[in-house]
Amino acid sequence: MHFSNRTNWELGQNEFAAAIEAAKSSGCELLDLTVSNPTVCGFEYAAADLLAPLSEPAAMQYAAEPLGRLAAREAVRSYYRDAGADVAVDRLCLTTSTSEAYSFLFRLVCDAGDEVLIARPSYPLFDYIARLDDVELREYPLLYDPHGAGWVVDLHALEGAISAKTRAIVVVHPNNPTGNFASEVERAALAQLCAERGIALIVDEVFLDYALAGAEHRSFAAGEMPALCFVLSGISKVCGLPQMKTSWIATSGPDELVIAAMARLEVIADTFLSMNAPVQQALPHWLANRGGVQSQIRERMRMNLAVLDARVRGSSAQMLAMQGGWTVVLRVPREIGGKRFSFAALEHGVIVQPGEFYGLPEGRAVLSLLTPPKIWREGLAKLPMD
Ligand SMILES: Cc1ncc(COP(=O)(O)O)c(C=O)c1O
Repeated sequence: MHFSNRTNWELGQNEFAAAIEAAKSSGCELLDLTVSNPTVCGFEYAAADLLAPLSEPAAMQYAAEPLGRLAAREAVRSYYRDAGADVAVDRLCLTTSTSEAYSFLFRLVCDAGDEVLIARPSYPLFDYIARLDDVELREYPLLYDPHGAGWVVDLHALEGAISAKTRAIVVVHPNNPTGNFASEVERAALAQLCAERGIALIVDEVFLDYALAGAEHRSFAAGEMPALCFVLSGISKVCGLPQMKTSWIATSGPDELVIAAMARLEVIADTFLSMNAPVQQALPHWLANRGGVQSQIRERMRMNLAVLDARVRGSSAQMLAMQGGWTVVLRVPREIGGKRFSFAALEHGVIVQPGEFYGLPEGRAVLSLLTPPKIWREGLAKLPMD
């Protein structure tokens, strides 16, 4: 039997996952500081109210609408209006996940072997999506300046990474796991670069609404955009509803490029028609009520950051500057007793992610700010960083 090379993955458990499993099976109670699934972090959801629109009669109706139902796209438009952006409904395409949106866009702008630039450090899922779509990933560095701006895009290196095969630059705004927003200066430079070189700008804004107080941030869907730009987001983060599988692409830029892109995107979406009717029926209600869970999440982030700040003071660890998003990066001792930090933490009964998972150098740990407060306090207290 022949399986495709693109699915020729190393399927075994990684060393860290195996160590967690071994600790669990030896009866260890672990404090997990990495949980980022909001449905298991103790937030209150108005479940009956959120589920009600799924049983409305209109949820039973079906029509093939590749870009998504008009009322659902109107609701996304209204979400952007609240963010100061005017996005026409014919520039919106609904998808079942942000991952699916990436895949649609890779197929829209890349032929096999074409290149997409992504930041390092960043979110590990890109490797899989790109490989499935026969796209090559190239990296551009984010640099950390502890005394100044925190994380910044190395624009010089980014420009150097562009080749004749580069079709898109991906920006995660704010980035996962580093939590930096693209600054206005970076935004202008990226947009100009993409416009000049005929490259698409793909901006993942799933965490846009989770900015820390005072962080400068603006949706890339707002204001003038000289390049063809695709902004991605979805309700797994915006409404804390990952189980509902609804995301979108908002396209902006010069009219003739947007019109051509949307016509092709519509055919890609029509090929799958992956959105189901009930969630589209419910989307306006969910988006209108996003404030309930968002305020709980923002409060959790604020409290957990305050506890972390107190814990790292006077310790051997340091919190790296962030502006938003659900994760925080700690600079930690590279090794403790001959063991890498995350493995040493596991021996103390605490799970933190090794920074290497995200392309960070050794001596970095990634923690989820959604962690329930009791686990957060107890886990941080046990972390070997004194
Ligand atoms: C930066 C980023 N983009 C996209 C996603 C996935 O979003 P979705 O659930 O809409 O596929 C995640 C999930 O953690 C993420 O961190």
